[in-house]
Amino acid sequence: MNTQIVNINLSHCNYSIFINESCFDFNAVAHLLKNRKIAIISNETVAPLYLEPLKQSLKRYNNSLHHLILKDGEQYKNQDSWNQILDFLADNSFNRSDLLMSLGGGVICDMTGFAAASWMRGIDFIQVPTSLLAQVDASVGGKTGINHKKGKNLIGAFHQPLAVIINASTLKTLPEREFKSGLGETTKYGFINQPQFKQWLQEHSEEIIRLNLAIMCQLIAKCCKYKKEIVQQDEKESGIRALLNLGHTFAHAIETYTQYKEYTHGEAVAIGMVMAAQLSVNLGIANDNLRKELEKHLQDFNLLTMLPKAVNATELVELMRLDKKTINNSHRLILLKSIGNAFIQTNVCEKDILQAILSTQH
Ligand SMILES: NC(=O)c1ccc[n+]([C@@H]2O[C@H](COP(=O)([O-])OP(=O)(O)OC[C@H]3O[C@@H](n4cnc5c(N)ncnc54)[C@H](O)[C@@H]3O)[C@@H](O)[C@H]2O)c1
Repeated sequence: MNTQIVNINLSHCNYSIFINESCFDFNAVAHLLKNRKIAIISNETVAPLYLEPLKQSLKRYNNSLHHLILKDGEQYKNQDSWNQILDFLADNSFNRSDLLMSLGGGVICDMTGFAAASWMRGIDFIQVPTSLLAQVDASVGGKTGINHKKGKNLIGAFHQPLAVIINASTLKTLPEREFKSGLGETTKYGFINQPQFKQWLQEHSEEIIRLNLAIMCQLIAKCCKYKKEIVQQDEKESGIRALLNLGHTFAHAIETYTQYKEYTHGEAVAIGMVMAAQLSVNLGIANDNLRKELEKHLQDFNLLTMLPKAVNATELVELMRLDKKTINNSHRLILLKSIGNAFIQTNVCEKDILQAILSTQH
């Protein structure tokens, strides 16, 4: 059985991402599982599909398996769910030497990671991401957290997992819309600093859409490598790591404005990347073709590239002020000089942001 491995080397810890086509392969991390309680955190959608297979894979190494099933949805990535995890750990006497394990998409991975970061000032956790978005993005870099009613991911911590176990065959049950959402995050690496990856995606678009699992494993491994190259240089986002937020400041505002109900995260990111491209063109940083080229690539993967006119652009700009990338109301955004050449632009004025949003509405 072919497992691909991506090693992440950070200043104070190393861990690996194991990517397998057909199973939850814990063989290489068996030593991390022994003689401790394990709490698997999942949700009501993913647990019926994968909790039993996951437990079967773990039982060879550990028999002290507990599980907690939370409600499904970004709207439950909140303090109540986080409290539920902490209460569960308390009720089952979890201590510093025990282990948390996430089984689900990015919401479950982020919340479980944050509970692991906070319980007894930090306990170990392993990520088992089951959505494409979580496999290509949330699995690398140690950002954990929950939403606050005022905005997305406002509460959180950096906490690196012990390992990430990816079983790409879980993608078979992922709803098509969520799969596309993952592709939204996937395409960003091609736009930020890996133009050859945009080419690779184009060449393999059919296999990707048909969910060829061998190609999907390659895609996941490539994205994890691209992200790790950036994260290894800047773990805590004091510089270059911010590039990964291409389109995200717009996206977070869109998600907050629509109360996480209208757009998946990746859909919002795709639209946000078009806004960033439009802004780059408007500011004379990029040539006129940039937006069209970016839009065409997103449309090849059936991703949305425009927002309806009914969305109030002024309110979106206001919401963007609360983003963590905003310093003293001066907007710091990731813009593009060209495809594969993203950079951090400070002091972007709100009038220009508003204009870019308005030109991305129909
Ligand atoms: N930590 C990071 O670095 C990072 C990076 C990117 C995104 N995120 C976060 O990730 C979240 C988005 O993640 P997401 O898109 O995975 O959303 P999600 O976790 O809500 O998952 C999407 C939907 O797919 C379901 N699902 C997941 N795997 C499935 C499977 N194999 N089969 C059937 N259904 C499945 C989920 O239950 C959910 O209904 C956001 O909260 C975002 O902030 C974090």
